[in-house]
Amino acid sequence: MTEMTTRPITTVPVKLGDRSYDILIGAGLIDQAGQEISRRAKAVRVAVVSDETVAGLHLDRLTKGLDAAGIHSTPVLVAPGEKSKGFATLETVTNAILAARLERGDIVIAFGGGVIGDLAGFAAGIARRGMGFVQMPTSLLAQVDSSVGGKTGINTAHGKNLVGVFYQPQLVLADTDVLDTLSPREFRAGYAEIAKYGLIDRPDFFAWLEKNWRGIFAGGRERTEAIAVSCRSKAEVVARDERETGDRALLNLGHTFGHAFETATNYDSTRLVHGEAVSIGMVLAHQFSAKMNLASPDDAARVEAHLRTVGLPVSIGDIPGEMPPADKLMDYIAQDKKVARGALTFILTRGIGQSFIAKDVPPSAVLSFLQEKHPK
Ligand SMILES: NC(=O)c1ccc[n+]([C@@H]2O[C@H](COP(=O)([O-])OP(=O)(O)OC[C@H]3O[C@@H](n4cnc5c(N)ncnc54)[C@H](O)[C@@H]3O)[C@@H](O)[C@H]2O)c1
Ligand SMILES: [Zn+2]
Repeated sequence: MTEMTTRPITTVPVKLGDRSYDILIGAGLIDQAGQEISRRAKAVRVAVVSDETVAGLHLDRLTKGLDAAGIHSTPVLVAPGEKSKGFATLETVTNAILAARLERGDIVIAFGGGVIGDLAGFAAGIARRGMGFVQMPTSLLAQVDSSVGGKTGINTAHGKNLVGVFYQPQLVLADTDVLDTLSPREFRAGYAEIAKYGLIDRPDFFAWLEKNWRGIFAGGRERTEAIAVSCRSKAEVVARDERETGDRALLNLGHTFGHAFETATNYDSTRLVHGEAVSIGMVLAHQFSAKMNLASPDDAARVEAHLRTVGLPVSIGDIPGEMPPADKLMDYIAQDKKVARGALTFILTRGIGQSFIAKDVPPSAVLSFLQEKHPK
């Protein structure tokens, strides 16, 4: 049970009219999940969707807290990894939710990284035409990115995240302590997305990260602060543009290049994980912006230096193994969804924290930049 000492909880509201909800961030929140859920919903049954790794480490504590609040829980476990984000597992999870006899007002809890959040959120959105849904993100990436904003879904043979629904949770509970069991590599990958918010439109936050990143990795107050700022940043963008018809695209800073590297490495996580691809992509977006005379090369150097300091890869050469030549990488970029009538949509920048959506980027300029960065 929780001690008498009150542990501080930071609340970030997500303002979406009658679908508004809170993100609670703090150490030890797992133990309080039962209380926080019963305070907001009258559910008596929940299904806890998780992966075997996360469940092995943290499920007992969660179950105890739910029990203590009088909430009956059924675990629904899947194998860890991106392969679980597909039709087959969706069917298993959805059937398990129904088999546990959950009613519409009952709650599906996504307890895991982004894979679990996307999968369980989609299942919650379609089972009984929409059930209660609570996100309990356990990876840094999930706490600062995927659990906020309501995008859920699975991968298909035609590509990643192509089937799904926008489905907002009723509550997000981010326990900053569970991140201590995350591998350093996964932690760093999540950190790239934190840095992204500074680079999009918060130059002061980026400067703060340059000074305080060690505290974030060590798990002090700075960790909670960085997660809160990130959630606030994403929540603001999502409140402005829930369905990505405009501004939400800014969240793709570094992602157009990044997705091409993920495709080129066949989504092989031993070579590259998403946050690492985004790290390299953000450095390239700044370097490319400098090459286009939009930003100063000093800013690109600063971004590169910081991401390198925390241990993230910052160039194509940092990716282990053979990478395809620049023109092939260019094909992958063109295949990405952000291509409209021959011109590329890129998130470019005028400097640290001054990113913008550029709709008319000539592919030839990107190609010659890539050839420079990745000569064969
Ligand atoms: N919905 C969105 O808006 C959105 C945004 C970004 C990414 N995503 C999706 O998120 C997924 C990536 O998320 P991810 O990086 O969290 O991947 P993940 O869920 O696969 O988690 C990464 C690994 O960390 C392990 N793990 C998670 N929490 C842990 C903990 N506390 N201790 C020890 N191990 C732990 C998992 O078992 C897994 O092996 C992708 O599928 C991506 O498409 C979605
Ligand atoms: Zn991302």
